[in-house]
Amino acid sequence: MITLSIIKADTGGYVGHSSVHPDMLAAAQDALATAVSDRLLVDAQVASCGDDISLIMTHEHGADAEPIHSFAWDTFQRTTEIAKRLGLYGAGQDLLSDAFSGNLRGMGPGYAELEFTERPSEPVICFLADKTEPGAWNLPLYKMFADPFNTAGLVIDANMHAGFRFEVYDLHEEKKIWFDCPADLYEMLMYIGAPARYVIHSVRSKTLDEQAAATSTQRLSLIAGKYVGKDDPVMIVRAQSGLPAVGEVLEPFAFPHSVAGCMRGSHHAPIMPVAIGQAHPARFDGPPRVTALGFQVRDGKLIGPRDMFDDPSFDRARSTANEVMDYMRRHGPFEPHRLPLEDLEYTTMRLLEERLAARWEPMAPAPLPVPAQ
Ligand code: F6R
Ligand code: MG
Ligand code: MG
Repeated sequence: MITLSIIKADTGGYVGHSSVHPDMLAAAQDALATAVSDRLLVDAQVASCGDDISLIMTHEHGADAEPIHSFAWDTFQRTTEIAKRLGLYGAGQDLLSDAFSGNLRGMGPGYAELEFTERPSEPVICFLADKTEPGAWNLPLYKMFADPFNTAGLVIDANMHAGFRFEVYDLHEEKKIWFDCPADLYEMLMYIGAPARYVIHSVRSKTLDEQAAATSTQRLSLIAGKYVGKDDPVMIVRAQSGLPAVGEVLEPFAFPHSVAGCMRGSHHAPIMPVAIGQAHPARFDGPPRVTALGFQVRDGKLIGPRDMFDDPSFDRARSTANEVMDYMRRHGPFEPHRLPLEDLEYTTMRLLEERLAARWEPMAPAPLPVPAQ
């Protein structure tokens, strides 16, 4: 069994929240190379999307493993030091705890981990996003694994007819449920259509009895009790041979759906699929970006990446995203561009309510009905 882990954190932005400084990436790459030569990891690469660093690692320690998580924590401490030295913005932003204890759960960094027995050929896509939240993967995962208008394999490949099982987390109440699709399709949509609260954590093939997808499912605002940045999620999807084809895995991103997270974590905006070199949100700290790094995994080695969205067939998605961004921006501070109040409750609204509490007064009572003559 091999485990593919993506562990990510924003440890400082260059400039503002738009990108990662090359010195930080070099330091992370160095740490990864040492961990590979020390045999902690089988293979590893560093990547970034916006102001987040992703450590993409293969190893034999399984998910939630202490040595892997503590290595990532130490690496993020190193990149934070560089960010502090260069005066980069929000140095150490996602490191919410003073000391590491056991694993990264609740400590700030996000992680998606998928453990599997390598198939004779193992194509895997690692998705990295910036300026959005983990629920941003709900719509594309639904399309990949449950929508035959997206995934022809659900109709054509007999290995996919039985469908897929979706593990959904309730981030507010910290509980989870499995939906068995297609039987539970409509029930599941009722939940995952509310991505600020319900988030798909993993997907399994019923026929192959294999895990096919994993997402990072943390919400920093819920962990920290106040706004500390969006979670800028990552996702791993295995493809082909009874799972959606690579093209079916990428197809949902031809529609730049609206996600929460842009500008102060407080706005909806379209998610734009981009080449790795274009993953630097600028306009209105957005629009949110997603990149797709394709790998063939062979004996645990990461053969790649191929920059999957560096393709003219996603030009129209990018241009639609720009058009939708123009339309949304014209709403200024109004919904639906701005998030609904319940999603802002960890930020301004709570303070404002306290400050204005005394100024609210009851409305004039309705006039009494005129008695009948
Ligand atoms: C960060 C983000 C940004 C910031 C914004 C304000 O992920 O989404 O839009 O929220 O740049 O940042 P501060 O409050 O640090 O000046
Ligand atoms: Mg940042
Ligand atoms: Mg970010």
